[in-house]
Amino acid sequence: MNSRFNFKEVLKDAHDNHYAIPSFDIFDMHGAKAMMDCAAEYKTPLILMCIAFNHFRPKHFISFIESYSADLDIPVFVHMDHARTVELCKEGIDAGFDSVMIDASADELNENIAKTLEVKKYADARGCAVESEVGHIKNGKITVEGGYVDREDFLVHTEDAVKLVDATHVDLLAVGIGNQHGFYVEEPHIHFDRLKEVHDALNMPLVMHGGSGLPKEMVQESIKGGITKCNVATDFVTHYTDGMLAALNKMGEHPMLLGALDPAMEAGKECVKHWIDTCMSAGKA
Ligand code: 13P
Repeated sequence: MNSRFNFKEVLKDAHDNHYAIPSFDIFDMHGAKAMMDCAAEYKTPLILMCIAFNHFRPKHFISFIESYSADLDIPVFVHMDHARTVELCKEGIDAGFDSVMIDASADELNENIAKTLEVKKYADARGCAVESEVGHIKNGKITVEGGYVDREDFLVHTEDAVKLVDATHVDLLAVGIGNQHGFYVEEPHIHFDRLKEVHDALNMPLVMHGGSGLPKEMVQESIKGGITKCNVATDFVTHYTDGMLAALNKMGEHPMLLGALDPAMEAGKECVKHWIDTCMSAGKA
């Protein structure tokens, strides 16, 4: 947990002053370094999110990020993204995340509320913030009894959002407003009217998942409508991987990872710069 900056205070500042905190899923440490260096250059608060626990546990990511960002003069927070179970959230809270997302949006509302409340009580006692989700990420494949279905009813219902927030006092709420993960397969369509309705009812930080592929103007309109945390994964990974591949391809017969890390990080930073500009967060740290 960040010992110099308070997550909820920084979040409130973003909400009150109509900018968003750029939030990136991280997959490796060089990518995370590129994000933090770029954020320090533009003096923005930053959220680094862990979703990939295939090779490392949360505590490994956290200790690297905390020790690297301790030398930077900006708030860098660590967030657990899309944890589907209460147990995983508790592991994340114990490991020291500044915030965790309990993603029970595939459950019935009452079940979603019950899980969110359990995580929130555990998190409150340990100073961690909680994000929950109402509505669905469009075209998100969710597991139902062992199979996968596409959700057509992705749009958040305002009364559900109010019910969940009243019952749990969650710190951040992710909303389904037409946003989707990965690059958009069709022209993106964000339901600003629904976003406004939810934000008017709640007046709290809302989260936009699926930033990649959304035009800058659309994201900025969403920020005006109450989006305070903007999640990005695919866009960064694509820039980073393309930068790395281009460098490896130039090396001929014996490509070496070492020579490809700087080009990958430079390409990644271009993407981070774009999102800082889009989130209007430069100079806010
Ligand atoms: P994208 O990969 O579409 O940017 O979505 C990231 C995200 O929302 C992570 O929670």
